[in-house]
Amino acid sequence: MIAIVSDIHANLEAIRAVLSDIEKHNVSDIICLGDVIGYGPNPGECLDLAMNFKVTLQGNHEKALLVSLEGANFNEIAKNSIEWTRQQLDMLAPEHREVNAKRWDFIGELNELYKENTTSFAHGSPRHPTIEYVYDRDINSPKKLGAIFEFVEHVCFIGHTHMPGIWTDDMVFIAPEEANYQYPLTGKKTLVNVGSVGQPRDRDIRSCYVLFDGDKVFFRRVSYPVEETFKKIKSIPELNPRLAERLKVAR
Ligand SMILES: [Fe+2]
Repeated sequence: MIAIVSDIHANLEAIRAVLSDIEKHNVSDIICLGDVIGYGPNPGECLDLAMNFKVTLQGNHEKALLVSLEGANFNEIAKNSIEWTRQQLDMLAPEHREVNAKRWDFIGELNELYKENTTSFAHGSPRHPTIEYVYDRDINSPKKLGAIFEFVEHVCFIGHTHMPGIWTDDMVFIAPEEANYQYPLTGKKTLVNVGSVGQPRDRDIRSCYVLFDGDKVFFRRVSYPVEETFKKIKSIPELNPRLAERLKVAR
C-alpha cells in the first residue's frame, strides 16, 4: 500500500494528523504531489517532514518560491504568503543557516513528474505538471481532457485544485463520496485527484489524502485541530486572515 498526499500548504497540524492515520495502515511509501509550502504558518517544519517521503514533486508554490513570482499567476494573498515563506527560510539568519540550506536544497531538487510502471504522479496534470488545473466540469471539454489522457498510461495521481475526485477517459467524473470513498480501478485510463491535506476546498474541512494498493483507491478524510492552525495564521500579519478563515469552511 502507498499513501499519496498533496497540497500540505505549510499546515503542520494537518500533515501530522494525516501521518498518524497513515501509520495505522500498512503503508510502504509516501508520495507527495507538491505544494508543501505556501498559505500556511509552518513551511520549514512541513518541508522537514516531506524530506522523509519517498518522493515529493514540485508544486506551483515551490516553483514560485524557486523560480519567480512572475508568471506564477498568483493573487496578492498567495504572493504575500510566498514572500513571507521566503523570509522564514532565510539563510542569512546564522542560527538557522544550516537547517534552511537543507530545505532550499530539497526544494531545488524536486522533479515535476514521477512514474512507477503504468502509474504516474504530477502536481496539476501530467500534461503541464505544475500549472494545469483539471476540474470536474472538464468532462464537458473532451478536447482538453482527451489531450491530458494522452499523457496517462493507466492511472495518474494529481492534486492542485484541492478537490478530490476521479476521471475516466470516457469523460466520466466521480466524486469520492459517490464512490463511497473507495474506487477499484478498471482497464480505463484514470485520473485521481487526491485532494488537499492542508487546505481542503470541497466544503469538508477534514484533511484529504489517498491510499492505493495497486488496484483500489481509498480516499481518507482526517480531522485535525483546525483551530490551532487558524490561530497561528491569524497571528502572522503577513498572512492574510482569509487564509485562516477558509480552513473552517473548506472553500
Ligand atoms: Fe495547492
